[in-house]
Amino acid sequence: MTEKVDETRYNGIGKVGSPACGDELRVWLKVDSQTEKIKEFHWRTFGCGSAIAATSITSEMVTENGGMTLEEARKMKPQDIIIRLGGLPARKIHCSVLCDKALRDAINDYYRRAKQFDKIVGEASRVVDPVSKVTDHDIEQAVKDGARTLEVVQQKTKVGIGNPACLPAVEELIKFYIEKYF
Ligand code: FES
Repeated sequence: MTEKVDETRYNGIGKVGSPACGDELRVWLKVDSQTEKIKEFHWRTFGCGSAIAATSITSEMVTENGGMTLEEARKMKPQDIIIRLGGLPARKIHCSVLCDKALRDAINDYYRRAKQFDKIVGEASRVVDPVSKVTDHDIEQAVKDGARTLEVVQQKTKVGIGNPACLPAVEELIKFYIEKYF
């Protein structure tokens, strides 16, 4: 079922594992080195149906209309993937994050191979609540500092106080970081 991928066909390879569910996702990119547009996006996941759907739609998004440039692809957010999918249940948001992270890992790998080291970026923080300007790194830090429930994370960060719509995603992140670190 899992035939071997001929990695020599690709010039950007990414891999990410999910501490939240133990699943894994791999991405192989074929990038045109002149235009830096993504010409092929091959993927394989041992994740759930939501991960498969999110990754499949991502492969369409980055290759349609002649392909996104690497910089355009890097600007894609899990939210863009979820909107294009027509929604995902809150407890499945980490599945789309998985695919977004694997793509970023593959883009970094391309730049590493192309020796464009200045273009390699670490995982940037993401704003989860634009009202209180709380990022995923703030949630991560709150969990590392001992918060284990939404209430305690809210006391520490004020996340979602004026913006309850972000709370399902915050709960997902709390679960993700607890499983990552503890
Ligand atoms: S990828 Fe593991 S539950 Fe979706």
